[in-house]
Amino acid sequence: MASPQCTQPNTIPNVSALLLLSLFLVIPALPHALPSTNVFSERTNYLHQEILKDEAVARLIELGKVSDANDFLERTFQSPASVRAGNLICKWMEDAGLHTWVDQMGNVHGRYEGMKPSEKALLIGSHLDTVIDAGMFDGALGIITAISALKALNIRGMLGRLRRPVEVIAFSDEEGVRFQSTFLGSAAIAGVMPVSTLHVHDKSGLTVQGALRNNSIETTEENLLQLKYDPESVWGYIEVHIEQGPVLETVGLPLGLVKGIAGQTRLRVTVKGSQGHAGTVPMRMRQDPMTAAAELIVLLESLCKQPEDYLSYDGQCTASTVQSLAGSLVCTVGEISTWPSASNVTFTVDIRAMDDLGREAIIYELSNRMYRICDKRSVLCLIERKHDANAVACDTGLSSKLKSAAYTALKQISGEDPDDVPILMSGAGHDAMAMSHLTKVAMLFVRCRGGVSHSPAEHVSDDDVWAAGMAISAFLETLM
Ligand SMILES: *[C@@H]1O[C@H](CO)[C@@H](O)[C@H](O)[C@H]1NC(C)=O
Ligand SMILES: *[C@@H]1O[C@H](CO)[C@@H](O)[C@H](O)[C@H]1NC(C)=O
Ligand SMILES: [Zn+2]
Repeated sequence: MASPQCTQPNTIPNVSALLLLSLFLVIPALPHALPSTNVFSERTNYLHQEILKDEAVARLIELGKVSDANDFLERTFQSPASVRAGNLICKWMEDAGLHTWVDQMGNVHGRYEGMKPSEKALLIGSHLDTVIDAGMFDGALGIITAISALKALNIRGMLGRLRRPVEVIAFSDEEGVRFQSTFLGSAAIAGVMPVSTLHVHDKSGLTVQGALRNNSIETTEENLLQLKYDPESVWGYIEVHIEQGPVLETVGLPLGLVKGIAGQTRLRVTVKGSQGHAGTVPMRMRQDPMTAAAELIVLLESLCKQPEDYLSYDGQCTASTVQSLAGSLVCTVGEISTWPSASNVTFTVDIRAMDDLGREAIIYELSNRMYRICDKRSVLCLIERKHDANAVACDTGLSSKLKSAAYTALKQISGEDPDDVPILMSGAGHDAMAMSHLTKVAMLFVRCRGGVSHSPAEHVSDDDVWAAGMAISAFLETLM
């Protein structure tokens, strides 16, 4: 069965012309006495700056304008803007010398077979969809820096030296805005998406299958199953993504290595009392669910701030679990609603941690203490578990290669020995989470201003875009 192809004309540039152009632009500016190795590295650096910084930034801006809305950025699964974005990415992949196609889930692929097409492939990816009123770096940065790194290698005539195939994948859905889904694109490739997902519908009643069909992609349950990659054909997956937090900015470094992605549990807590007439029921007789909910929320905060004060080592956890929680546990109350009137209060709780057992221990302890508070206040409480995802640990071998590549990149850019690349945890989910079911994964975070994301204020400096591209480039050179 034929996959839909990218529709663009083939736009692979004349590589030797570009190479000559960059030689022409740089060499006259160099002092004549430089030894030839320096001339080469100066030229390479210039080329890198041109492709990995200037062009990559221009592409981020261009892609950031591809939106379904006029005044803000919005690209949801298979929307007209998503299709246009996919076409643009496809064109850039071809420009880098990659062979391209769009699969049955709308993912855009660009692959270079290298010296040994039968070798296990390195996959590099991120997502092309966005939230509503998004920034232009979330997702796009990982796709564009990967394409640019391959393009720079192509221009230097080095693509053919890759000892294994390299494939860039722009995933069609990570944010899950349209179908409230998690990772339609990467989950299909990793083979962890139930086929029933094809029949989930959006607000307008259109199904995932219908949305694909509207763009001439015929996806059946059978060909969805065939999208799963054979684990034997894949060597690993790497992803570059904005940090979406303030740590790198605080330490003053552009890149950080991700040691893992936090596990997550979402709870829904319902507190039922009887509100009584606000002005008439005496205070000692009230069963006010709103104040009970307030006490439960404050309990959540103090438990998650100081888990070591609440968990007993011998009973629930080992010392190392408690220690890991102290570094990674984050608890948030999302929505609070009261309906009907204030006799019934519900709120959602989001709990994230690197340690899955620790997260369980927290949920156990939290639930027990919450029920006790409810008893004391004579209100009825119900705690429901709505969603669970286990933590993902990045592969140590792949991560140490990626960390060295990031170090090399920072050194090449600054010309001096940089500080060690910091190691962070990811509180947010990423395509790497789904891909970890298929293969070993590693991730690099890129500094973003103020830690802000999912907003038009999201920003990555041009130099940091460059650093990210250089890191992928250095990583690819280790595959030669
Ligand atoms: C179907 O695709 C067309 C463009 O080909 C688009 O204008 C329309 O909004 C799409 N419909 C839905 C429901 O996604
Ligand atoms: C309590 O409120 C929630 C929504 O906030 C609602 O789904 C539920 O049915 C309500 N329960 C009762 C008993 O009213
Ligand atoms: Zn993202």
